[in-house]
Amino acid sequence: SEKIKKDYEKTSNEISTSLVIGNGVMGKGIIWLLSKYLKQTRIKLRNLDKAQNIIGDVAKLYDYFLKSRKMTQAQVDLKLSSLSYTQNFDGLKNIDLAIEAIVENKEQKEELLKKLESCMKDDAIIASNTSSISIEELSKNLQRKENFMGIHFFNPVNKMPLVEIIPNSKTSKKSINTVKQSLIKMGKMPIVVGDCAGFLVNRILLPYLNEAAFILEEGSNITTIDKVLKDFGMPMGPFTLADNVGIDIGYHVSKILNESYGQRMPISNVLIKIYEQKLFGKKSKKGFYDYTNNNTIENK
Ligand code: 3HC
Repeated sequence: SEKIKKDYEKTSNEISTSLVIGNGVMGKGIIWLLSKYLKQTRIKLRNLDKAQNIIGDVAKLYDYFLKSRKMTQAQVDLKLSSLSYTQNFDGLKNIDLAIEAIVENKEQKEELLKKLESCMKDDAIIASNTSSISIEELSKNLQRKENFMGIHFFNPVNKMPLVEIIPNSKTSKKSINTVKQSLIKMGKMPIVVGDCAGFLVNRILLPYLNEAAFILEEGSNITTIDKVLKDFGMPMGPFTLADNVGIDIGYHVSKILNESYGQRMPISNVLIKIYEQKLFGKKSKKGFYDYTNNNTIENK
C-alpha cells in the first residue's frame, strides 16, 4: 500500500549502481536483472576475455522482451551499455550494492567479502547469493556487518519472483529496507528469512528432490515420477528440476542440510552416485537425463 511504500522510503536509500562477482548461471541472471533496473552494473571478472560471452548470455535474457515487444532493440542496447567490467576491483567507489555469486566455498567467499569491504564506500551494501553457507558465519570478519546480508535468488533469476533476504544479527533495518524496496521495484517478491541451513525454500525443496530419488531407488523410473508430479501441477518434475538447478548444487545443499538436520534430511544414494560421476545436469549435458540423446541415465 502507499503507507508501506512511504515507510520504506523513509528508512531506505536508493540503489542505482551495482557490482556482480561470479558469472555462472546465477551470476548472469543477477547481472541481467540489475542491468534492467539500475543505472550501472559493474562486473568483476577474473579474465576480461570472458566479457563478450557474458554480455552475449545476458543479452539472450532480453530476447523475451524483444519478442513480446515489451522493449525495443535500442532500449535493450542501452541497458547492455550500462554494463562495465573490472578485473582488479577498481571503479567501485560509487557502487551502492555488490552481490557475490561465486562458488559455494566459505573461505573464498570470506576473502572476497573482505576485499569488497575494503574497496567500496562505507554505506555500500554487500550481499552473498549463497544457498547454504551461514550469513552470520560469513559476516564474522567484516567491519560493517550492518550493511551485509544474504540475497538468495532462485534459478531462473529472470522468471522466479521470490528472493530470500537473510540478515545477520547486526544487519541494519535500513539496509534490509533498501534491498527490499529495490527488489520490489525489480518486480521481485522479497521475504526476510532466518539464517539457518537451507534458509526457507531449500529446506523444503531439497527433501522433495531427494524423496523423488528415493522412490527411484525403490524401483520406479525417472520419466514416470516426473510425469506424475507434472500432472499433479508442478511446473516440471523433480528430476527435470534437479537437472536445471544443477546436480552439484543439489548435492552440496543436500549435504549441508544432512549435516544440520541429521536423519530428517537424508541424501539419496542416486544423487551421490550421479554427483560422483560428474553428471551435473543440463549444464554438463547429462544429469538424470542425457541431453545428448534425449534419454534418461537409468541403469547406468
Ligand atoms: N526473460 C525475462 N523474463 C521472463 C522470461 C525471460 N526470458 N520469460 C518469462 N519471463 C517472465 C515474465 O514476466 C513471465 O510472465 P508474462 O509472460 O506473463 O510476462 C514470467 O516470467 C513467467 O514466464 P513463463 O510463463 O514463461 O513461465 P513458465 O510457465 O514457463 O514458468 C517457471 C517458469 C516459473 C520458471 C517454472 O518453470 C518453474 O517454476 N520452474 C521451477 C523453477 C524452480 O523451482 N526453481 C528453483 C530452483 S532452486 C534454486 O534456484 C535455489 C538454489 O539455491 C538451489
